Amino acid sequence: MLTSIKNNKFTYETQKLGMMYFRVALILFGAQLLMGLIAAIQFIWPSFLYGIFDFSVARMVHINALVVWMLYAMIGSVYLMLPDETGIEAVGIKLGKLAFWVLTAAVAIVVLVYIFIQIGPGKESTIWLINEGREYIEAPRWADIGIVVAVLIFYYNVFATYIKGRKTGIMTVMVANLLALAGLYLAGMFFTDNISVDQYWWWWVIHLWVEATWEVFVGTLAAYALIQIIDAKREIVEMWLWIEVLMLFGSGILGLGHHYFWIGTPEYWWEIGALFSSLEPVPLVAMFVHVIYDWGKEQGAHGERPVVKNTPAMAWIVTNAFGNFLGAGIWGFFHTLPQVNIYTHGSQFTAAHGHLAFFGAYATILIGMMYLGIQKAYGLAKLKATFNTKMAHFLITFGVLGMTVALTIAGYEQVLVERAELGAGWDAYFIAQNLPWMKQAMTWRLIMGVVTFVGFIYLFIDLLTIAKKQQEN
Ligand code: HEM
Ligand code: HEM
Ligand SMILES: [Fe+2]
Repeated sequence: MLTSIKNNKFTYETQKLGMMYFRVALILFGAQLLMGLIAAIQFIWPSFLYGIFDFSVARMVHINALVVWMLYAMIGSVYLMLPDETGIEAVGIKLGKLAFWVLTAAVAIVVLVYIFIQIGPGKESTIWLINEGREYIEAPRWADIGIVVAVLIFYYNVFATYIKGRKTGIMTVMVANLLALAGLYLAGMFFTDNISVDQYWWWWVIHLWVEATWEVFVGTLAAYALIQIIDAKREIVEMWLWIEVLMLFGSGILGLGHHYFWIGTPEYWWEIGALFSSLEPVPLVAMFVHVIYDWGKEQGAHGERPVVKNTPAMAWIVTNAFGNFLGAGIWGFFHTLPQVNIYTHGSQFTAAHGHLAFFGAYATILIGMMYLGIQKAYGLAKLKATFNTKMAHFLITFGVLGMTVALTIAGYEQVLVERAELGAGWDAYFIAQNLPWMKQAMTWRLIMGVVTFVGFIYLFIDLLTIAKKQQEN
């Protein structure tokens, strides 16, 4: 992964830029997990690093790093597929590289400020210089503006290259969807002192990202990857893609209502949210069937010896099909009706869903794309899974599933004791937090978090070494 930057076999400079984004993404992924571990330890021993590195900061960096590494890996994936799909080099490659360095410098400064300035008064200057205080997208406003500029350069590159080159269905969806994805970020950039109004717009970014535009994004990635890895027929994957886009936007946009149950928005959102968000699992089933169907079909077409040109990437993409359906579809559906959400809202159940969904729907396929990038960087006709690949895949997946189960049990206990039995008051919260079920669940979450982290170390080593070894053979 490191040498791939210098001695790569890429035909296109654009793909090299993609690898630069992947490298930063991987480092941020590691940082995210470390922060998660600190926060998980603090759940069990609240005095751990208290006053030095508080839970609020560890949690904030954990989830912001999550969003940023995923956006980096997404940009990396787009630069990887852009020349393959359009048949040409990105039009503004030099500008693209400059944007990469500017963005990365901004991210580094933002993280350092988070770490060095942990507490202080909330003033107008805080929003500009330190923290905007919106969960998941906390970057201060100066950085927000920088992000917008870097993303505009990125989008210019994608759009202008698309206009100049070959126009595939995959790229058409990509170009249109990216415009929506980037545009939504603006909804989280202005200040209002009414918390309901603030939350109203904040969900436009968070929900309309993860349940609409990001989902369409991974649909395009899966389509591209299936063509690359198993020679899937373009007409078939593109037909699936259009159906998925229709369904994802059809349910995801108004599904936004499932966040408008309790924030002071009008009551009609109860029905809208209940109905449309209940439909959201449907496209996720379609995406699942799509991957498994194409895989089975292409294997059949090649007779006895199926051709999978990149087994690590394929393994992660199949995990994505399962994970997206389970984490977003099933765990999401569990708490999406207002009748259920009145008990589960903001409980550990939400965290269980958050972990499995972000991991299943996004982390998996983005890791798969990194493996695809590495194969291309080394010009290998085939990339085969190694011992490290399998350990990474198993430990990370098992670890996140384990954390999800632990958090689901914790959420169940909260629902029964804190919400149903004791009526969700102040005391009820603390009684539920101190019961053995909660403590045991939090301990298991930490254990499974460590398992996940060990898996990450295998992943890191594998990404650095896998292609080099196979090139020498
Ligand atoms: C990959 C897609 C998805 C991701 C990454 C995701 C992630 C998340 C996260 C992180 C939260 C917590 C937000 C917070 O901090 O308040 C959340 C909340 C929620 N999600 Fe999802 N989600 C996805 C898809 C879905 C789907 C398809 C459904 C419904 C079928 C759903 C239903 C919900 C509901 C109802 C809440 C609010 C929970 C509460 O009231 O505490 N999600 N989601
Ligand atoms: C080493 C493994 C990990 C550990 C120990 C860990 C731990 C934690 C902890 C302690 C929190 C704060 C929960 C709270 O406020 O109650 C949290 C939040 C969160 N983590 Fe992790 N995490 C890990 C890995 C991951 C991964 C792999 C993902 C996704 C790909 C992820 C996504 C999230 C999200 C979305 C939240 C916010 C959830 C919510 O507010 O509902 N974490 N994590
Ligand atoms: Fe949502």
